[in-house]
Amino acid sequence: MSPSRATARAHPNIALVKYWGKRDAVRILPHQSSLSVTLAPLEVVTTVEFGAPADSVVLHGSEARGKERARVLGLLERVRSETTRALGPVRVDSRGNFPMAAGLASSAAGFAALALAGRAAAGLSTDPATISRLAREGSGSACRSVQGGVCIWHRGSREDGADSVATQAFPEGHWPELRLLVAVLSRAEKEVGSRDGMAQTVETSPYYAAWVKDAEAEIPRATAAIAARDLEALGALSERNAWRMHATAFAADPPLCYLLPGTLALLLALPAARRRGVPVWFTLDAGPNPVLLTLASHEAEVERLAREAGALEVVRCRPGGDARLVEP
Ligand code: PMV
Repeated sequence: MSPSRATARAHPNIALVKYWGKRDAVRILPHQSSLSVTLAPLEVVTTVEFGAPADSVVLHGSEARGKERARVLGLLERVRSETTRALGPVRVDSRGNFPMAAGLASSAAGFAALALAGRAAAGLSTDPATISRLAREGSGSACRSVQGGVCIWHRGSREDGADSVATQAFPEGHWPELRLLVAVLSRAEKEVGSRDGMAQTVETSPYYAAWVKDAEAEIPRATAAIAARDLEALGALSERNAWRMHATAFAADPPLCYLLPGTLALLLALPAARRRGVPVWFTLDAGPNPVLLTLASHEAEVERLAREAGALEVVRCRPGGDARLVEP
């Protein structure tokens, strides 16, 4: 059997209107649409090679085990099911160029790169909608890392998930001055991962229905703010969406709090910075490390502000491009 190999690179993404809750946990179908920005220069590079001597999954330099390994091999099983070719055992090697503990979902970039490299290595089509759908089944937010710029993951309404895919709303070059700075306040692994955290929120938070309705309504507003390159409008929207996601999680039983005291200190410093004329707003995923939205002209100042508020590290990002196949 001749080995079939492909390598793909993909950037992570940060949601400004977030996904928090599944209506179907097997197919990974969300309760609401979400909108995100693809983050360069952070990326994951993944090689998939069928026809290897034995199945092997190496993530960031070490052999994956348990659930992690099962998720990767599970996605490649779906690839196998779409071809009549005998592909044989598979070797996967995936590594990222950014701190995995920064709280940025490396799984988003990882599964986007895996879906693209996996289908390419199997000789299957690699159009963005097909890759987005497959990446979604590995990790929901991964469907938004297949294309660059700003992407919207459409909730969809079909039970089989065929219409639950991400599409690009704005290309990478639409807003070149936009900057997103990850303020790393803690490198500790969070106690409750997003998969379990969102399930607990859906099941027990009395605010859940309100959260879904509100998030869905924010998508056209976020799109309009980005079209107008209006950071003030986008920043305000991004902050309220993050607060509302966390408020929904706080109200779960048992309650979920992803913030640390340092997170709150940094978030509460932002209104005063804005009064001094610094354009800076935040978003916050299910972890303690905020991502600060600003413009290129204020990047250094915002980094200083984050460090003064206790950031151990600040990772500077800008809108990134599409996931793509490369020579290994
Ligand atoms: O796709 P997951 O399971 O990593 O969940 C992502 C959840 C958030 O990062 C909190 C929000 C989002 O839309 O990315």
